[in-house]
Amino acid sequence: MKLTPPIEDAYLEYAEQAKPQGTQSAATAPTGSTGSPAPQPKPGEFKYIGKYTPRVDGRKIVTGAARYTHDLTFEGMLYAKILRSPHASAELVSIDLTEALALPGVKAGLKLKEGRIKWVGEPVAAVAAVSERRAEEALALIKVEYNILPHVVAPDKAMEPGAPQVPDQGGNVIKSNDYTRGDAEKGFKEADVVLERTYKTSWEVHQPTETHGSVAMWDGDDLTVWDSTQAVQSVRDGLARALAIPAGRVKVLKEYMGGGFGSKLGVGDYTVTAARLAKEAGRPVKITLTRRENSYCVGYRPSAWMTVKVGARKDGTLTALTLKNTNCGGVGRGDRVAEPYSDMYKCPNVKIEENAVYVNACGSRATRAPGHTQAMLGLEGMMEELAAKLGMDPLELRMKNFAAKDKGDTGIAYSTKGLEQCYRLGAEKIGWSRRNKKPGAGGGKVRTGIGMASQIWPGAGTPGTLADVKLYPDGSVEVECGTQDIGTGTRTHMALVVAETLGLEPQDVVVHLGNSDLPWAPISGGSLTVPSVAPAVRDAALKAAEYLKTLASKKLGLPPADIVLENRRAASHADPTKAIELKELARGIPRPLPFHGERGDYPATFAFQTFGVQFAEVEVDTETGKVRVKKVVAVHDIGRVINRQTAESQVLGGVTQGMSAALFEEKVMDAQTGAMVNPNYHDYKVATSMDIPEIVPLFADIVDERLNNLGTKGLGEPPRIPASAVIANAVYNALGVHVREIPMTPARVLAALKRKEDRP
Ligand code: MOS
Repeated sequence: MKLTPPIEDAYLEYAEQAKPQGTQSAATAPTGSTGSPAPQPKPGEFKYIGKYTPRVDGRKIVTGAARYTHDLTFEGMLYAKILRSPHASAELVSIDLTEALALPGVKAGLKLKEGRIKWVGEPVAAVAAVSERRAEEALALIKVEYNILPHVVAPDKAMEPGAPQVPDQGGNVIKSNDYTRGDAEKGFKEADVVLERTYKTSWEVHQPTETHGSVAMWDGDDLTVWDSTQAVQSVRDGLARALAIPAGRVKVLKEYMGGGFGSKLGVGDYTVTAARLAKEAGRPVKITLTRRENSYCVGYRPSAWMTVKVGARKDGTLTALTLKNTNCGGVGRGDRVAEPYSDMYKCPNVKIEENAVYVNACGSRATRAPGHTQAMLGLEGMMEELAAKLGMDPLELRMKNFAAKDKGDTGIAYSTKGLEQCYRLGAEKIGWSRRNKKPGAGGGKVRTGIGMASQIWPGAGTPGTLADVKLYPDGSVEVECGTQDIGTGTRTHMALVVAETLGLEPQDVVVHLGNSDLPWAPISGGSLTVPSVAPAVRDAALKAAEYLKTLASKKLGLPPADIVLENRRAASHADPTKAIELKELARGIPRPLPFHGERGDYPATFAFQTFGVQFAEVEVDTETGKVRVKKVVAVHDIGRVINRQTAESQVLGGVTQGMSAALFEEKVMDAQTGAMVNPNYHDYKVATSMDIPEIVPLFADIVDERLNNLGTKGLGEPPRIPASAVIANAVYNALGVHVREIPMTPARVLAALKRKEDRP
């Protein structure tokens, strides 16, 4: 696609503004005595790390040149469609593909199911044909006989005695978690104030811009699959297992993708189907889910119904905290929400009981910060309500109670300095003193409020992550890692870490990722990518730098320790006029040289949480029940920021997703048919640009290099974690009554306003 000039101009202008600031030239570099070791760059001295680097592939993405799975076509490629069950509960009696396969242009067909159907949308059969249209026509010719059975899709109904039972779970309600520390009953007796509240979250669909999809192509026994995935390595392994072929015969590729948010972490049934149809037809097969299928067949965030009880002394010291959570993830187990309840605050007496309820709906999937996001609506909602009850500043209540434990056995401090800094910085930036000192005190038809919510999340990355940096005899440099860029800017962070280490510019570095044959890296999920990949790349680049310095020292007749790599040159630290261009230096390389890097081990994961807090300002119309978010300040401690530009983007995205879930998003099920009633972008409401407030992303910038060689932590999940709770808390501050159920639709806001019993 050709780019139109306005877009290009806008992009170039943006890139110009975003150029790294405060770079240091060789001429102004500090001098030292010859032979003294070149100093390791301190955070402030990095040229790229921690600064603003525009995406190396930004132009490709905004001009449409970037290739997505949906864009692919191959000679002779077929299009596959899946026939899905219209029934939520049924015994599958028979499937007859005869007529479908007889339709001209239909090249392959498969039965995908036998036995019990448990949800609307379960795959039953599939066909591959010369066009999507022909495949759809073929689906209509498949004869399926069902013996329809009773179903249940509402969790409260599923818990009633005599409810239709979802098979294979051992009952509709199963205990999923149990945690105790101290003695909660004793703790409540010691409390001056005890408060109990119930908070609810709904089913939130991932809604990636690019729906799920794959293209499968065989060459003899070897399978290549292009997949819109967050994990090329996992899809490779999943395909090998499903097809019972060696993993070494499967290659999974993904160049670009339009989001996943946890719904694309492993191999999909549609991917396996594409591979099987391709084998049968002897031609490449493409399968892309429709928006409708994407809405009801590939998961969602499970709901949580959390009854939280807290006890505190007059001074705000927590004495007891209990949680009874009922979560529902369809035929899946859903999420446990316990972690923030047990770890965020240093309450000595905690008791948590969680149950999973099963209903006849597609299983939930990991959704950006599984469990934590739901948890914060209850935990942080309760902190605001408790503060009001105590007549205390909610910020002070949190500062008094946030956890600061030591992991004793490992000797690593659970460093919460970052959280404290986030609290102080965020409060200052939002103007915390402007809030209603007493929730709802403002009065009037349209009321404003300011609230806060905190976040923890393990952000250490995955040991064993590998990356290679390769030097070529033409002087070019390549970095390779079997990770993937899920839209977060992984190519750019890999390029800038290499550029930083070898004295190059990010655009000098050729980046290869999104290929399961490349050195191993984990899923791009769980906030793992940056803290796994960046240290591995840094390790490989440091080894390449050592090699180049040794080479340069020979050419320049200087000790290796005197050589610095900067401005595309190897130069003497003592006398910068003695230098050699890296391109010229590379001519001494006999052949392409790979340097293997690895993200080292770490002693304990728990010691390296990410921390954060968000503050929001909202306006609520008490006549219409409509909430408008005016401003969100988000402060997160993620250790060393690698690329401030893409890090800020992550925060903007997380905050937007959270406010969207807080106000609009809900997968609605029909009790009669067991089907989702809003499986499209029209009826399933997602925040638009008109709804998005001013968002201020800030970072604590506290670096602990015991974590990894860059002291960097993940950011995928953190900004999403408090982002719904903070809106609910700001609404509480405006109204003096907590809505306690998201999405806070106008109807729910108006209903909450009628409640009288719990006003402070
Ligand atoms: Mo995330 S829910 O681990 O993609």
